[in-house]
Amino acid sequence: MTPPPTPSPERLERVERMRGYFALQLSLARRMSDLTGEPLGATTLRYTNFHRRFGFGRWTGEAAAGWTVYAEALDAAADAGAQLSLACEMFLRAPDEHGHETGRHAFGCFACEPPKADGSVNIHFLNLDTDAGGGPLAAAKLSRRQAEIAAMVRFLRERFPEVTHIRGRSWLYHLAAYRRVFPPAYVDSRTPYDGPVTLHGNGLWGQTIDSWERVRPDVAQALTAALPGMDPQAPWKVFPLQGLATVAPLSAFETFYGLGA
Ligand SMILES: CC(C)(COP(=O)(O)OP(=O)(O)OC[C@H]1O[C@@H](n2cnc3c(N)ncnc32)[C@H](O)[C@@H]1OP(=O)(O)O)[C@@H](O)C(=O)NCCC(=O)NCCS
Repeated sequence: MTPPPTPSPERLERVERMRGYFALQLSLARRMSDLTGEPLGATTLRYTNFHRRFGFGRWTGEAAAGWTVYAEALDAAADAGAQLSLACEMFLRAPDEHGHETGRHAFGCFACEPPKADGSVNIHFLNLDTDAGGGPLAAAKLSRRQAEIAAMVRFLRERFPEVTHIRGRSWLYHLAAYRRVFPPAYVDSRTPYDGPVTLHGNGLWGQTIDSWERVRPDVAQALTAALPGMDPQAPWKVFPLQGLATVAPLSAFETFYGLGA
């Protein structure tokens, strides 16, 4: 049998930064397990983003074979410390993530899905730009972020002439540093949305970390304080910032970035 690859120094550093993020996600999964009686391996699959973080891709209802082995070990782990060690070990051995999900069109930190039948396009954000100059939302990087969205808009106009609107759904629209990337018509449309919110992706979990993937102590504290009262039917409500939905015509983006409609 081939031994697992030795983790790189970067990976070792990264896992140390991410310990708090893993611990926080496990605490929510444990609470779900207590409330529902489901094994921890099952709640960790559904309510944390570990399936993706450990290199198994987006969970779409069927767990990867490697996950099943991990879930069994997790269910057998003696205590919270052992559960956390297991998560860190899994992450250490996981392959590097390669940016945006397959099937999306990527423009730096942003990506869009293919157009929907109603002419709208959903956009997504991933932090792919943290360095000594700061995180992806630093003021000095605003022109870079705007250039990415402008490139996306140009691409959509040329490649998919049927596109009429851009849509977003994210906690990030609470942040002025994120909103300033977009046209006023788009950010002014932001409104809370109802309905089930999945917790097995980056989505709401993204607000619990900073641009170096270190857990944000204030957010972790707020989330932890909400766990005793968590409704197992609506666990996403323990997150301090809920998702906001946005929409605006493609033409509003063209005007804002000076692309000429
Ligand atoms: C978004 C992200 C880069 C912010 O990280 P950061 O290190 O705080 O970045 P910045 O320092 O550039 O922060 C930008 C601003 O947002 C504020 N902010 C960031 N996260 C916040 C949070 N959870 N709650 C309140 N304010 C927050 C910061 O205080 C800062 O405010 P300022 O401009 O007034 O100083 C980081 O949380 C991240 O990478 N998250 C994962 C990405 C994600 O959520 N993807 C899913 C999208 S649905």
